[in-house]
Amino acid sequence: MLSVTLLVAISPFLLGTFALQKPLHQTDCCKVLQEAGIKHVLLPGNATYSKRVQSYWSLTSQLTPSCFVQPENTEEVSAIVKSLVEKTKCEFSIRSGGHSSNACANNIEEGVTIDFGRMNGTSYDSATKIASIQPAARWLRVYRTFDALDRGIQGGGIGSVGAGGLLLGGGFANYLYQRGLATDDIVNFEVVLANGSVVQANATSNKDLWRTLKGGGSGFGVVTRYDMETFDRLPIWSASRQYNSSAETDEAHILGLKHWTDNPDALPSNYAYIWWTYRPAISQTIIIAEMGDTKSQANPPAVQEFLAIPDYISSNTGLTNMSTSAQATQAEGYRNIWFTVTFKNDERVIRKAVDLHRRLVEDMKRDSSDGDFETQAYFQPLPSIVGQRGAEKGGNTLGIDKLKDNAIVLLGSLAVNGIDQEAMGRQKMLAWRRTLEKYSDDVGAAVDYRYMNYADASQDVLASYGEDNLKTMLEVSRKYDPEGVFQTRAPGGYKLPWDYRKSPAGF
Ligand SMILES: Cc1cc2nc3c(=O)[nH]c(=O)nc-3n(C[C@H](O)[C@H](O)[C@H](O)COP(=O)(O)OP(=O)(O)OC[C@H]3O[C@@H](n4cnc5c(N)ncnc54)[C@H](O)[C@@H]3O)c2cc1C
Ligand SMILES: *[C@@H]1O[C@H](CO)[C@@H](O)[C@H](O)[C@H]1NC(C)=O
Ligand SMILES: *[C@@H]1O[C@H](CO)[C@@H](O)[C@H](O)[C@H]1NC(C)=O
Ligand SMILES: *[C@@H]1O[C@H](CO)[C@@H](O)[C@H](O)[C@H]1NC(C)=O
Ligand SMILES: *[C@@H]1O[C@H](CO)[C@@H](O)[C@H](O)[C@H]1NC(C)=O
Ligand SMILES: *[C@@H]1O[C@H](CO)[C@@H](O)[C@H](O)[C@H]1NC(C)=O
Ligand SMILES: *[C@@H]1O[C@H](CO)[C@@H](O)[C@H](O)[C@H]1NC(C)=O
Repeated sequence: MLSVTLLVAISPFLLGTFALQKPLHQTDCCKVLQEAGIKHVLLPGNATYSKRVQSYWSLTSQLTPSCFVQPENTEEVSAIVKSLVEKTKCEFSIRSGGHSSNACANNIEEGVTIDFGRMNGTSYDSATKIASIQPAARWLRVYRTFDALDRGIQGGGIGSVGAGGLLLGGGFANYLYQRGLATDDIVNFEVVLANGSVVQANATSNKDLWRTLKGGGSGFGVVTRYDMETFDRLPIWSASRQYNSSAETDEAHILGLKHWTDNPDALPSNYAYIWWTYRPAISQTIIIAEMGDTKSQANPPAVQEFLAIPDYISSNTGLTNMSTSAQATQAEGYRNIWFTVTFKNDERVIRKAVDLHRRLVEDMKRDSSDGDFETQAYFQPLPSIVGQRGAEKGGNTLGIDKLKDNAIVLLGSLAVNGIDQEAMGRQKMLAWRRTLEKYSDDVGAAVDYRYMNYADASQDVLASYGEDNLKTMLEVSRKYDPEGVFQTRAPGGYKLPWDYRKSPAGF
């Protein structure tokens, strides 16, 4: 009650302040960049500008910035950051592959979007076996490059996803249980800091920044290059099965997932993930079970429980490679609402999540005005080995190295058409998330960690990494960005909690 009153009392003052400052914030943003000699400043009305707006995966991110600025190299990124920080008060956002559906994470309505569209290359040093990837590289191209060289590399499962965002949030790939997250394979980040200087962050130089960027997101600097380990690879044996969702097939997959995640035999070479998805074209929920062996072993023992589930509607098994499997797509052109919850590997919570998804589908069938909606309840096993793998490689900021229990990461997603249905869908998604969080708490299966790349903007991702990591991230921010430029002037994406930033120890 108190806070509501306070808010009402101060809001006219706040509004006045913003109204006064607005012209100062804006008029100059893009002009300053042009005057700094940056070649590709795309203004509204320009045909390429419109194409860039439309290039975001989810319509929720198709905002219209004052301009897109497309650097061609690191020097230009440095000049852009320097100009924006020294000569303007403009807000900005950073965009690589453009796959986040959280509005403002990768785009901005009044301000500048630093758009990496022209920095999408990949190169390879055969002496060190290190791949160098630019932010807007898409995984399909990366896999084609490295499959041809007979080298493995960790990235997204769907080829259109960008490298830049996925690697700063973590990155779940088929080698998760053998190698840790994709970000754990990064040996060096090239970063433009808030004052425009370019630094390398790795195990021997700026180590604290290196560790923080492995999971810390967009609040510490602009990453202009990711240097990653590649590894010997064999063809992947994969099995992809689809089932109609029913009481029997649901329960068989819930138990299969629980047992697989706890099975130590799975870890040396297997992967598995399962999802339930409502498909409007067939007005039906299906289960998709993806499993495989990264060392080419066909029908490995740990996936037998899945393979024994009868009555599949399709089954695809055989040897494959990442360039082939990453050709999979996920429908574009919707307004997407995502959230994530992590919980201990407890079949009761998996069952609850599946049940809540079934109810969401029923509710949407009743309430959707066009019937054209898609859902996912996607389960990614997160056995404790994943955190250990990260720690062995120098550590990341996610806090999952402290997980004693095997866990599961759930991605809940809903895709709808139109702003009204998005508002309605958001309520239902929030209810699903809250109910599941409460349930996992009630049965003693709660886990704090929230996966950045699946989270909704309303989720406090950085706080979920734990107090130690939060403290370190604040120190890193103060050291490399003393004014908190990336924490405060790039408002989208995940930032340190406000009470942390405004404390005497903050900015
Ligand atoms: C169809 C689809 C499939 C997916 N599959 C997977 C998967 O298999 N595994 C998985 O782990 N995740 C997956 N994801 C989630 C994915 O990891 C996130 O959406 C991720 O943010 C995408 O990266 P991007 O570069 O495309 O995103 P963007 O939206 O461009 O960026 C995401 C965030 O990172 C910040 N950022 C981007 N580049 C930089 C940079 N160079 N410097 C500083 N900050 C930067 C942005 O500001 C933004 O906040 C998938 C998403 C989609 C939509
Ligand atoms: C769009 O902007 C770019 C970059 O400033 C410029 O090169 C191009 O000519 C513009 N296109 C049109 C149609 O104005
Ligand atoms: C990089 O982007 C440009 C412009 O969109 C495109 O023409 C080119 O094929 C891309 N290159 C790679 C390696 O993806
Ligand atoms: C990847 O697999 C596809 C078919 O499965 C094959 O055509 C292609 O040559 C493979 N690529 C490499 C580089 O191994
Ligand atoms: C780490 O950074 C230093 C300083 O820039 C650089 O000399 C070194 O090559 C980097 N290490 C890696 C693995 O990139
Ligand atoms: C799956 O559902 C479809 C549509 O209801 C039905 O035609 C098909 O027979 C079902 N298949 C199985 C294996 O249950
Ligand atoms: C830029 O910021 C970094 C981190 O605060 C600092 O070490 C460096 O000296 C600064 N460079 C310049 C030119 O001010």
